[in-house]
Amino acid sequence: MSRRLFVALWPDAKVRHELTMLQARPEIRVAGGRTVSPKNIHMTLQFLGDVDASQQRALEARLAEFVFDLVTLTLDRMGYWSRPGILWLGPRKTSHARSIALQRLSNQLRALGYRADGRGFKAYVTLARDARPAKHFVFNPVTWYAETMVLVVSKRLPEGARYKVLM
Ligand code: 2AM
Repeated sequence: MSRRLFVALWPDAKVRHELTMLQARPEIRVAGGRTVSPKNIHMTLQFLGDVDASQQRALEARLAEFVFDLVTLTLDRMGYWSRPGILWLGPRKTSHARSIALQRLSNQLRALGYRADGRGFKAYVTLARDARPAKHFVFNPVTWYAETMVLVVSKRLPEGARYKVLM
């Protein structure tokens, strides 16, 4: 049986709380849609798709050896993709540390047969789906010291996706 996996940065309680507070702001509420459940908030580094048990073991072994150097993210920009109505936060600047970490990760994953999305990496945290654009939204940037990355399984349930950190 295969599982739908992705590698992500997983916010600590403080960052998760700050992002949840932003989701609760009237400017975001009025944009409608479905806000991402606080426990699901994350930043995907690489989506892997359906992975079987033996591939998963190989992945876990590879990721366990990966040395992740701290990446500081300043989430200071709100963005919107009209299809499918995604309201997101991301950093304006690309940090050197983040680019290096991503390049190393994608090299490791490529060696196992996983190709990065051809559209290129976008650093974003989805706040809401099926939303309208948020207008006049001014906010204090969220500083996120990402100390590690995680392997996550995504379960698609009738009530929406549920994510679980595997390692
Ligand atoms: P999204 O939030 O913009 O849908 C688990 O699905 C995570 O992987 C989500 O962050 C999702 O982004 C991301 N992802 C990236 N490419 C994906 C794909 N082809 N299918 C599903 N999820 C993808």
